[in-house]
Amino acid sequence: MNSRRAMAVVFGGASLILGIAAATHAADVPAAPGTVAAQPISAQYRLYCSGCHGAAGEGGGDLAFASGKTPADLTMLTSRNGGMFPRERVLQVIDGRADVEEHGARDMPVWGEWFKYEAGEGLGGLEGNEGVVRQRVQAMADFIATLQKK
Ligand code: HEC
Repeated sequence: MNSRRAMAVVFGGASLILGIAAATHAADVPAAPGTVAAQPISAQYRLYCSGCHGAAGEGGGDLAFASGKTPADLTMLTSRNGGMFPRERVLQVIDGRADVEEHGARDMPVWGEWFKYEAGEGLGGLEGNEGVVRQRVQAMADFIATLQKK
């Protein structure tokens, strides 16, 4: 193989690897099939949230007793915020990682951490993608917005 051809092979391989890296860093990487993240958001809510916050979000799930604090009624967030869904705050509370850094442990699980772990499932030890985590937290916040009583 002449040296020019060898260079082409090396660069070709490198750009293939870079391409794969870029793809796994894109914001809309689909969740691995069969994982919880691949389920509709309402099913994810049932699985991960309704245990504490109740099926319709009013609180009183079976696990509520296990958490130190009473899980919030998630249907009154808009009403308690003067008629505007407090999306930014909800995003931050669900993710939780920034809160924990600031205030230490809390009663609500830190979903940002868990979603990050799940985003790494099937990647053979690669770190989960932050865009996937953000998307999932946003989908969850949008779902909670649909539970609001006026
Ligand atoms: C182990 C019980 C538990 C589970 C499971 C749980 N939460 Fe919570 N959640 C709480 C508690 C307790 C609070 C009250 C705040 C605190 O002290 O942590 C809370 C607060 C919240 C708030 C803030 C409400 C407000 O008044 O601003 C949101 C939003 C929320 N949870 C969403 C979720 C979502 C979405 C899920 C599922 C992905 C979930 N929670 C799962 C216990 C839980």
